[in-house]
Amino acid sequence: MVTTQEFLGKKDFIINNQTVSESCPSNIALIKYWGKYDNQIPANPSISYTLNHCKTNTTVEFLADEPFSVQTFLSGNEEIKFAEKIEKYFNNIEQYLPWILQGKYIIRTENTFPHSSGIASSASGFGAIAKCLMQLDEFFSGKDSEEESLRKASFLARLGSGSACRSLYNGLVVWGESQVKGSSDLFAVQYPNDEIHDVFKNFNDWVLLIHEGQKSVSSTVGHGLMNTNPYAERRFLEARENFEPMKEILRNGDMHGFIKLVEHEALTLHAMMMMSDPAFILMKTGTLEVINKVWDFRRITGLPLFFTLDAGANVHLLFPNDLEQNKIEDFINQELLPFTQKNGVVKDVMRF
Ligand code: PMV
Repeated sequence: MVTTQEFLGKKDFIINNQTVSESCPSNIALIKYWGKYDNQIPANPSISYTLNHCKTNTTVEFLADEPFSVQTFLSGNEEIKFAEKIEKYFNNIEQYLPWILQGKYIIRTENTFPHSSGIASSASGFGAIAKCLMQLDEFFSGKDSEEESLRKASFLARLGSGSACRSLYNGLVVWGESQVKGSSDLFAVQYPNDEIHDVFKNFNDWVLLIHEGQKSVSSTVGHGLMNTNPYAERRFLEARENFEPMKEILRNGDMHGFIKLVEHEALTLHAMMMMSDPAFILMKTGTLEVINKVWDFRRITGLPLFFTLDAGANVHLLFPNDLEQNKIEDFINQELLPFTQKNGVVKDVMRF
C-alpha cells in the first residue's frame, strides 16, 4: 500500500527563477465525497467524470531571490484572500516539496467558465496549481517518471481541496479506498477504461446555472457538519456499497441502473445537508422545478436525461451523445432554461 512516505520531497534541490503554466479541468462526482477526517482523508470513496471545457489555466512565476510570499491574480484582478489560502497551503506541504517556502510566487489564474457562476473552481484551481508545483519540482529536484509525477500532483491537489485530486486524470476517476484496484485515500486513480462500456464514454454534462454567486454554506463547513450528523456512518457505508453496483453498471452498459444510482447519490448528498445540525439547504426552487421536469420528460419519452448536483443549486444535466440527443437538447433549451437566473448554461462533455 502506498503511504505518505512515498511523497516526501528530496532534500537536495537548487532553486532558480522559473515561470510555469498548466491547465486543469473540473470534475463532477457520480458517487459523492461528503465528510472527511484530518489531513483531507475522505470518509468514503468517490468516483467522478472529468470535464472537458470547464478548466482553470494557471501561470506561476517563481522568484528565487525574494523571501517567501504569495501574490495571486484571478482574471487579472489581485485576490488577497486567495493568496492567504495558498500561503497556508504551501506551509502545509513543505515536507513534500522542501523548497516551497523559499521564494516569491506570482500566481495568475483564470477559469474558462463564468466567474461566480456557482461552478466550483477549487477542483480545477488546485489541480492546476499542483501541476505547476510538480513542474517546478522537476526543475529544482530532478525528474520523476510521468506516472509518479502525476500521482504526486494528485496527492498535493488533495491537500488543497479534496475533490481536486480527481481532476488530474481523464475519464472516470476514483478517490478513496474501495474495490477499485489501486485506489487510495491519498490520491486519485483512473478507473480502468476497458471496464467501461462505450455508452458511458461519450457523455454530455450541461450545467444549468440556477443560482449564480456565493453559496450560503461552504463545502468546508458542510463536510464538518457530517461529524455530528446521526446518519453519517450509514451514509459512508452506503457510498462504499454503491461501488459494487456501479462497477457492474459501468461494465454492462446498464443505463437505467446508472441513472437510478447517480440521481440517488445527488439526492442523498442534499439529504445529508438537510439532516445536519444546523440544517441547511443549497437547492433553490429552480433546482426542484428542473428535477421534476426531468423526471416527467423521462417518464413520457423514455430518453436517458438525468441529473446530478454538487454542493450548490446548479443542476448538472447528464445525457449520452447519441441519435436522440437533439430531442433532449431541444427540451433543455425550451423547458429548463427558464429556471436559470440569466439563461445561464455551461455546455460541457466528459473528457476521455
Ligand atoms: O473538494 P470539496 O471539499 O470542495 O468537496 C466537494 C464535495 C462535492 O462536490 C459535493 C462532492 C464531490 O465528491 O465532489
